[in-house]
Amino acid sequence: MNAVAEVRGAVSAAKAAGKTVALVPTMGALHAGHAELIRAAKRHAGFVVVSIFVNPTQFGPHEDFGKYPRTLEADLTLATASGADWIFAPTVAELYPAGFASQVEVPALDRMLCGPRRPGHFRGVCTVVLKLLNIVQPHLAVFGAKDAQQCAVLKRMVRDLDVPVELRIEPTVREADGLALSSRNRYLSTADRSLASRIYQALQTVLHRVAAGKIDVARLQSGLLADLLTIPGAQVDYAEIVDAESLEPVNLLRRPALVAVAIVLGTTRLIDNVTVGG
Ligand code: PAF
Repeated sequence: MNAVAEVRGAVSAAKAAGKTVALVPTMGALHAGHAELIRAAKRHAGFVVVSIFVNPTQFGPHEDFGKYPRTLEADLTLATASGADWIFAPTVAELYPAGFASQVEVPALDRMLCGPRRPGHFRGVCTVVLKLLNIVQPHLAVFGAKDAQQCAVLKRMVRDLDVPVELRIEPTVREADGLALSSRNRYLSTADRSLASRIYQALQTVLHRVAAGKIDVARLQSGLLADLLTIPGAQVDYAEIVDAESLEPVNLLRRPALVAVAIVLGTTRLIDNVTVGG
């Protein structure tokens, strides 16, 4: 389960049996959103590999690497029940042996949204995802739309570096009150958990305004920021409307745009987004 050679052997056997192979990269602490990614992978592939690896290189020095939830037993149950055929849960030494020195980054997209607040984060994500793609060599890999910048960065990496894989982005899975599922939601206090639903309400207000014909991005953005600032105790990292592919600021909604927010509630940083226009 942990060794690169083992997962490669299992994937070779699946390919030799004519199966399509999908990879669902995760950091564990699996929830219903991950289950949906695994089920989506299973709809498109005969052999689904789920990787579980809390990747140290994508955490900043003051971030939650140490306390990131590790729930391997429960993860195995959920992944298997959702259709995983192989769980690849390598150790840090397996993926980053002594002497490891390479890094992959997409600087143009790293400058945007979460990039400046999380220096090195997307470099860590790109490096580990390229490694996982090279180890597993899947036909397709599945990611969740909640991590919109991660999706944009990885799409660009795959395109720029001719990585022979199809990326599938699956819709965000939400709680009944709209909060996007995240492994970090469990850090929220009861009070903050109930306030957190107002993030999606604010995003939906943007969707309603756009549906009503409002296309001036500066106004939509300031309305969104004002709504988010009414959440008691919330610190808004950003609330931006950007081009969905380049993540560059847009003035008018002519192409699909991403409405992306990052908010700190208590000590928990939450991100969410919706897509508009186009
Ligand atoms: O989205 C995540 O959980 C991580 O960033 C990923 C893609 C598994 C890389 O560590």
